[in-house]
Amino acid sequence: MKLPMDGKVALVTGGGSGIGAATARLLSESGCCVAVAGIPANGVDAVAAEINDGGGSAIAVPTDVADSSQVEAAVEQTVAEFGRLDVVVASAGMQMHREDVDLHEMSEDAWDRTHSVNYRGVMLTCKYALAQMVGQGGGGSIVIISSITAINGRSANVSYMTGKTGLLGLNRYIAVHYGKHGIRCNAVLPGALERTPNHDNHPDPEGRAKVLDAMVPLGRIGTPDDIAPMVAFLCSDEAKYATGAEFVIDGGVTVI
Ligand SMILES: NC(=O)c1ccc[n+]([C@@H]2O[C@H](COP(=O)([O-])OP(=O)(O)OC[C@H]3O[C@@H](n4cnc5c(N)ncnc54)[C@H](O)[C@@H]3O)[C@@H](O)[C@H]2O)c1
Repeated sequence: MKLPMDGKVALVTGGGSGIGAATARLLSESGCCVAVAGIPANGVDAVAAEINDGGGSAIAVPTDVADSSQVEAAVEQTVAEFGRLDVVVASAGMQMHREDVDLHEMSEDAWDRTHSVNYRGVMLTCKYALAQMVGQGGGGSIVIISSITAINGRSANVSYMTGKTGLLGLNRYIAVHYGKHGIRCNAVLPGALERTPNHDNHPDPEGRAKVLDAMVPLGRIGTPDDIAPMVAFLCSDEAKYATGAEFVIDGGVTVI
C-alpha cells in the first residue's frame, strides 16, 4: 500500500509490535521517515532496523509513554533527526487481564497503572506532538488507537475500557480545538486481535481466540495488518476532511 506521504515525518508509539509496527511499516512504504517509539527497547530497535534494512528511514526511540519527560524527549529526538513532525500514531497500550477485573475487588494500583499508559500516556503523546505541530505550522494528523471496548460494556477489564472511552473525548477535543491549525485527529477502534503481546498476555489466549472467532460476522478475530491500512490512510492527506471521527474495524462484531 503506497499513500502520497513522501517526506512526511511520523512518530508511532507502541511501534515495536502489533498495530504500531504494522503501521510504521506502511508509513515507511508510503515515504514517511518514521520514529518508532515505545518499550521494550528491543522491539522498537528491531522494527526500526527492519525499515532501514528495507531502504526506508527510521529511528528507534525507546520511550515509556507514562513518563512525561520521555515523551517530550521522543518528540525532540524525532525533530532533531528528521526536522519536523507531521504524523502521530498513539498505539502504545497495555491490558492487565488478570488484575483489571471485578471493580469492587480490583486494586486501585491496577486502575492507576492502566490509565497511566492507555489514557495519560496518549494525552502526553498528543500534548507534546501538538506543541511541535502548532509551533512549526503546516498542520498534522494524529491517530489515536482506542478499542471497541469504548463503545460497549462487555469488557471484563474496567480500567482498560474506561481509558479507551476517555480517548474518544480526547479525540473530539483535539479535532475541535486544533482544526484551526490544520491538525486533524481521528480514533481507530479495533476489535479483538490475535498474535500480539497483548493477546499472548491473556490467561487463556487460545480459548479467547476461539470464543471471539465464533462471535465475529467475518468469522475470525483480527490481526494488526487488518487495522494498519486504515490507520495509515487517516494519517495521510487522502483523509484530509476526516477529523474527530471514530473508525470501528472489528469484522462486524459490534453491530450484532
Ligand atoms: N490486541 C487487541 O485485541 C486490541 C484490540 C483493541 C485495541 N487494541 C489497542 O491497540 C493498541 C496496540 O495494541 P496491539 O494490539 O498492537 O498490541 P501490542 O501489545 O502488540 O501493542 C502495544 C505496544 O505498546 C507497547 N507498550 C506497552 N506499554 C507501553 C508504555 N508504557 N510505553 C510505551 N509503549 C508501551 C507494548 O510493548 C507494545 O509494543 C493498544 O492501544 C491496544 O490497547 C488492541
